[in-house]
Amino acid sequence: GRTASRDPPSAMGREDVVRDELGSLHGIPLYKSFIEGWPQVEAFQARPDDVLIATYPKSGTTWLSEILDMIYHDGDVEKCRRDAIFNRVPFLEMKIPEMPSGIELLEKTPSPRLVKTHLPVQLLPASFRDKDCKVIYVARNPKDVVISYYYFYQMAKIHPDPGTLGEFLETFMAGKVAYGSWYEHVRGWWEKKHEKQLLYLFYEDMKKDPQREVQKILQFLGKEVTEQTLARILHHTSFQEMRKNPATNYETIPTTLMDHSLSPFLRKGISGDWKNHFTVAQNERFDQHYWEHMAGSDLHFQME
Ligand code: A3P
Repeated sequence: GRTASRDPPSAMGREDVVRDELGSLHGIPLYKSFIEGWPQVEAFQARPDDVLIATYPKSGTTWLSEILDMIYHDGDVEKCRRDAIFNRVPFLEMKIPEMPSGIELLEKTPSPRLVKTHLPVQLLPASFRDKDCKVIYVARNPKDVVISYYYFYQMAKIHPDPGTLGEFLETFMAGKVAYGSWYEHVRGWWEKKHEKQLLYLFYEDMKKDPQREVQKILQFLGKEVTEQTLARILHHTSFQEMRKNPATNYETIPTTLMDHSLSPFLRKGISGDWKNHFTVAQNERFDQHYWEHMAGSDLHFQME
């Protein structure tokens, strides 16, 4: 409970986060309860063997998290059922009233830890750089991200009401959704690729050839697994398996925070679902905005 926490008691209750407007953290739109916890996040002490999973929301964070936990447990499916994914791979900047914060979970997690964040690169706590931690970033094409985000806004009640899809597309393009501009996020991390121990992956590549992408991850981490273990990792982290697994599908989150009857957390798990949602006019407008905001970058996306 809140009184047991060593942080000053929060003025916010669980109900206060439901459908609340976003606040602003150094110019990035973010949930107000997360902003309340920011001082602890900024002061976070990383350990050299922490591995950071960084993504813009709805880009394959949970998928990569399960792959990494499987690698860390040498493909032992039962060990990876020990707890829900959001406890096995704590969400660094997460702070919701009446729940343990990401920081509190991380303090209790034995090394080597996996850490999840959606922070844009410029807001990453300095300690990750100082300790030269490995980072794996996953990016997903923005058309599928915005559709996935639209359904997520509906089911995850910490978000403001998304409005119609047309309205949400405008909010997304304007960078006014939680975590701000997708364009700045993917480009910001891409530009840091040469400075850091950073592996930059794409959701579309993971869909096309998961084995090749998992092998890239293994090589990046300096780990080896048997062929049999690799096969088990690939099977266990497939969309179908993760969708029915209570340890990965978020069904254990209180329904006041996530309503899976509106949209399941593991919704479709494909590339190109935007085609089932965008009108021709919306697609043209989105394309134009995309080219304006990605101009001059050597970062390219497969839209399907
Ligand atoms: P959709 O809404 O398009 O289905 P995140 O974990 O970053 O929030 O991303 C969620 C998105 O990743 C959802 O996309 C979800 O279905 C998809 N996803 C989760 N696990 C997956 C898997 N094993 N394979 C493919 N997609 C997966």
